[in-house]
Amino acid sequence: MAETTTNQATMNRWWRLRRRPTGALATSDLELATDPIAPLQDGQALVRTLVLSVEAASRIWLGHQRAFMPSVPVGGMVRGIGVGEVIASRRADLHVGDVVAGFLGWQEFCVADDRLLDAPLTTLPSPLPAPASAFVGVLGHIGISAYLGVDYLDPGPGQTVVISAAAGGVGSIAGQLAKLRGARVVGIAGGPAKCRYVVDELGFDACVDHRDPAWRDLLDAAITDGVDLDFENVGGPIMDHLLMRLNVGAKIFLCGEVSQYDDSGERTAWRGLVNVDQIHMQRATMRGFIVTDHLDRWPEAIDALAALWTAGRLMYRESVVTGLEHAPAALARLLAGDTVGKLVVAVAEPQLSRGVQLVITGSR
Ligand SMILES: NC(=O)c1ccc[n+]([C@@H]2O[C@H](COP(=O)([O-])OP(=O)(O)OC[C@H]3O[C@@H](n4cnc5c(N)ncnc54)[C@H](OP(=O)(O)O)[C@@H]3O)[C@@H](O)[C@H]2O)c1
Repeated sequence: MAETTTNQATMNRWWRLRRRPTGALATSDLELATDPIAPLQDGQALVRTLVLSVEAASRIWLGHQRAFMPSVPVGGMVRGIGVGEVIASRRADLHVGDVVAGFLGWQEFCVADDRLLDAPLTTLPSPLPAPASAFVGVLGHIGISAYLGVDYLDPGPGQTVVISAAAGGVGSIAGQLAKLRGARVVGIAGGPAKCRYVVDELGFDACVDHRDPAWRDLLDAAITDGVDLDFENVGGPIMDHLLMRLNVGAKIFLCGEVSQYDDSGERTAWRGLVNVDQIHMQRATMRGFIVTDHLDRWPEAIDALAALWTAGRLMYRESVVTGLEHAPAALARLLAGDTVGKLVVAVAEPQLSRGVQLVITGSR
């Protein structure tokens, strides 16, 4: 197949795992490498990364936990999900100017070869109906996780839903979807400013600051009728406390346990959930979830989320860091709770896909 090229890119900058982090991620655990881009072979396309999603799960992939995807090997590229534009192609299914989403990796240019990538790339609609970052956020795996989780929990009037990491990407959307179904929604977030955001802007009924030393009492005061549904994003001591407040027949959607990802001192000190018996006593159900197991439901979820978002019924905010070189610091900030909404790294402005806006400006 003849190569189509409109780009002179010859060098690629990418983030390499220098050593496995122990405890909180140190930016020195990663190093920025520069390598020449090899000529494309048949079946390959070259994709310029436009925007990268900063994932809590990256900390799992950099560690050695038993997880849903293999650990990144030491010396290997940091795994990452992003949106990019095709700048050269020797693939029949990808054309120069296409905008694609998927596991591009933490790098400026991705050789898109489905035999080498973690999963096939998805070609996004043209013209792109929303900023590129939306497809790793509200209209991507983040919004879809929230949608499918709330669909599973199936909240309704008279029920109390608790949502941890409520000011973050998944939690902020999940809470609003649960509110739209008429439930009482209680968020948990770090710090008074985030809690104000969750209540005043996202419309949750209450939000508890887990950084307040009295968080257990504050949480109990916010859930006096107990917990019917738990959209669980953080695990650890917060989840363990919620187990003691479950109502009979409660459901837990286990989307993540970010408090446990960095095998830090807290995890070492934490001896695991001790109140698991409450799942038995309260006849509760807990479901583990990985969003990529449900690709068949992505179109339905994206349609529903896009309709709500464009109608202004779903508030959504991004924190944006500019420049691939800042990606490790961005990940460290996410894990420390130093960001609001969905965190993305803006890597490059689109050059071929005209009219594509890179990130979402302002919340809507
Ligand atoms: N299962 C799936 O397929 C899937 C897909 C996407 C995401 N997820 C999971 O969904 C969760 C949220 O992901 P996201 O990308 O939207 O991230 P996010 O919520 O935007 O960011 C993570 C947040 O977790 C909170 N956090 C960190 N350490 C904590 C601790 N020790 N205790 C309590 N809260 C802590 C911080 O918020 P505060 O400042 O409020 O503490 C931080 O902002 C994560 O667990 C992630 O792994 C799962």
